[in-house]
Amino acid sequence: MSSKKVLWSGRFKEGAADATLTFTSSLNTDVKLARYDVLGSIAHVKMLSAQGIISAADGKNIEQGLKEILTQIEDGTLPIQERLEDIHSNIEFILTDRIKDAGARLHTARSRNDQVVTDVRMFMRDAILEVVEELIGLEKTFLEVAKDNIDTIVPGFTHVQHAQPVTIGHHLLAHFARISRDVERFVEAYRRVNICPLGSAALAGTTYNIDREYTSSLLGFQHPCGNSMDGVSDRDFIAEFLFDASLCAVHLSSICEELVYWSSQEFAFIEMDDAYATGSSIMPQKKNSDVAELTRGRTGAAIGDLVNILTTMKGLPLTYNRDLQEDKDAVFASYERLTACIKMCSAMIATLTFNKERMLNAAEEGFMNATDLADYLVVKGMPFRKAHEVVGGAVRYCIDHQKKLDDLTLSELKTFSELIDKDVFEILPLDKCVYRRKSLGGTSPEIIPVQLDNGYSIVDRQNAFVSGERNMIEQAFEALEK
Ligand code: ARG
Repeated sequence: MSSKKVLWSGRFKEGAADATLTFTSSLNTDVKLARYDVLGSIAHVKMLSAQGIISAADGKNIEQGLKEILTQIEDGTLPIQERLEDIHSNIEFILTDRIKDAGARLHTARSRNDQVVTDVRMFMRDAILEVVEELIGLEKTFLEVAKDNIDTIVPGFTHVQHAQPVTIGHHLLAHFARISRDVERFVEAYRRVNICPLGSAALAGTTYNIDREYTSSLLGFQHPCGNSMDGVSDRDFIAEFLFDASLCAVHLSSICEELVYWSSQEFAFIEMDDAYATGSSIMPQKKNSDVAELTRGRTGAAIGDLVNILTTMKGLPLTYNRDLQEDKDAVFASYERLTACIKMCSAMIATLTFNKERMLNAAEEGFMNATDLADYLVVKGMPFRKAHEVVGGAVRYCIDHQKKLDDLTLSELKTFSELIDKDVFEILPLDKCVYRRKSLGGTSPEIIPVQLDNGYSIVDRQNAFVSGERNMIEQAFEALEK
């Protein structure tokens, strides 16, 4: 048994076993929340003092003590004690040790239950803004590389079979579209993160005349939460963030899957920059796409974090239960993993070399102009289903005679339909197939600039969101630290 004092020793005859203190500690994880915890406490103490719940002198004293702690956190000299369960207890302990009774008044009208979730929400605001900033970087990479490859022809695939020719610009803008939806999701999630539970106290609110609007605005939150029981137990915003991170990881994984096989010898569409490739310990010739593979591989952990939290939440009655302590590991891990993966994806894509000749040659194979021939017949009056059948027959003939559709002579083509005339040779070349697909959202290099322009304005909007929110948080925190 340990006889050392902890925050809640009063009710106990004997101290908890050392094993219990170790088992219940979250210090290794929540030490990352230290700065937010102090800022939350400064806001709380300003409010306590403004409301006359503690004296102005005590308020000043506590604030001063907290600011010293903040400096020590920043230079890494805060004397944290392992046995004190979590960062919140440590900070309160250090403060009280230094300023005695005044420090012991800090926790008036507050519980760790509302304190901890306020800290997590502050952490997550910054985390989301950083994730969004990294994603914007990736979006810009897509836009730039797409712009440079507006008319670079590559096979378009369905079922990993040659389908219709597209351009690299179009292909990359499809990835851009997915990523821009990821950003929108994070922006949405941010709105639900940016709500202040401080003042919910343990669960039921408090008898003191606190001002929750005031603490909420001091911390730069949108507004205080409306139900104290929900305030201390809601982790929806965490599940939502982890889902958004998982889906984003799935998107990155899908991009990386292409990077891996497009750089294989069989495809050889792209070559990864040496900076983002690795070698083999035994085979001297190897250049492997380990960065892409690891990004793909880490998606499992991202989804794991989401399942972890949903499973934890599933069994919990209202309100705070200690299980909720485990939420932070998932958030921190997911955020760190995701930002690293986004950075690497962006770097890999920005430095790719496209083997244009190889992609064009590949696009010549596989009858990718067959749909165009069918469409040609439709324009000449044949019903589409019939045209499909006729062109299928022509393809069959080509396979048997080892020819391409464009190799056939007019008289050979006429054996499939009398409707075919010499103007057919204007629609069969690959570049024609690509340029003629001008329907909204289509692959034609003539309309890709519309998508690019749209993309750049999306990026501008998202950038404005990040800087707007950052300013708000910075201003709030600067005022607290002053
Ligand atoms: N370390 C705890 C956590 O992260 C702090 C809250 C403790 N609250 C309690 N009722 N034991 O959730």
